Amino acid sequence: MKQKNSLKLSILAILSVLTLLLAGCGGGSQQASGGNEASGKEQTYTFKATHVTQETHVWHQTALKFGEELDKLSNGKMKLDVYPASQLGPEKDMVSQLETGAIDFGFLTNAYMSTRQESLNAWFMPFAFKSLKDAVAVRESAPAKDMLKELEAQGLVGLDFGFAGNRHILMKDGHIASPADLKGKKVRIIGSPAIQDFWTAIGAGPTAMPLPEVYTSLQTGVIDGIDIDLDALVTEKYYENAENLTLTNHFTFPTVIVMSQASYNKLSAEDQEIVKTAIKNAVDWGVQEAINRESANLETLKQAGVKVEELTDATSFESMIKQVEETYSQKSPIIKAFLEETKK
Ligand code: BEZ
Repeated sequence: MKQKNSLKLSILAILSVLTLLLAGCGGGSQQASGGNEASGKEQTYTFKATHVTQETHVWHQTALKFGEELDKLSNGKMKLDVYPASQLGPEKDMVSQLETGAIDFGFLTNAYMSTRQESLNAWFMPFAFKSLKDAVAVRESAPAKDMLKELEAQGLVGLDFGFAGNRHILMKDGHIASPADLKGKKVRIIGSPAIQDFWTAIGAGPTAMPLPEVYTSLQTGVIDGIDIDLDALVTEKYYENAENLTLTNHFTFPTVIVMSQASYNKLSAEDQEIVKTAIKNAVDWGVQEAINRESANLETLKQAGVKVEELTDATSFESMIKQVEETYSQKSPIIKAFLEETKK
């Protein structure tokens, strides 16, 4: 009898271990905490989110806020672990892991995603927005929503767009009044088709390069300047190697916030709504924070001795703007509609 009981206990122990292992191998970070609603206990989740920026960056702060909102709206059922600074790999790997559900949420640069989905280049129509506030105003427009919907084709649920500050130009030598000041200059850009095309149309030498290489490249003169947002400029202190900042607002710089379709499909309709509301609340907060940071960052840069000038008249860039707008309007009806939206 004693032997039978210990055999039963051993089988039960093995079955428990197997169940735990299977839950872990389920392709996601959803964790059932001892059963589901049918057995009277609620499903709980520990989601994983990741992005490329440092912890001080507004995208990371927005991701943390999203975690708080998930926790609050789900009454503690949903938790979020956030992995900043590409801790789970570069964006290419992030997307692969999102496809399988190994990562649940990604705050991906629109720049990288525009290399995978044409319509996202819409955000990089040059000089489309005079300020970050103007860019944020079209976040919930119909074409922006269409861009998010198109992400389904990649196994992703497009949730929202967040923003870093608009892009400006920092140069080692002098400020920018017209395209002539950029002719032949090597300028670091983040890789994206529309960004590359604009800089090529200007006659500059656009050089795609990841952020960690930028400081030394400026220092050693491998590049003459950078296309950058103020938040990254303050955080990474690039002004230590180049002191001439021209405020151009030539691009805005969104993050595309996505959920793995595999993870999303495992949620009840009610839990899916919680996710959508939580992200909306977090991004509403994050975009306002990004807008507030624009003036605070500018003040910090002036205090640090950066020489700041503003490009008040972009007329000399008109032919390049037109060239990029025409090319990309023909590539995607969403981009055409988005451009019309920005000109309203
Ligand atoms: C950049 O590569 O320029 C960048 C990426 C993420 C946030 C800010 C800047």
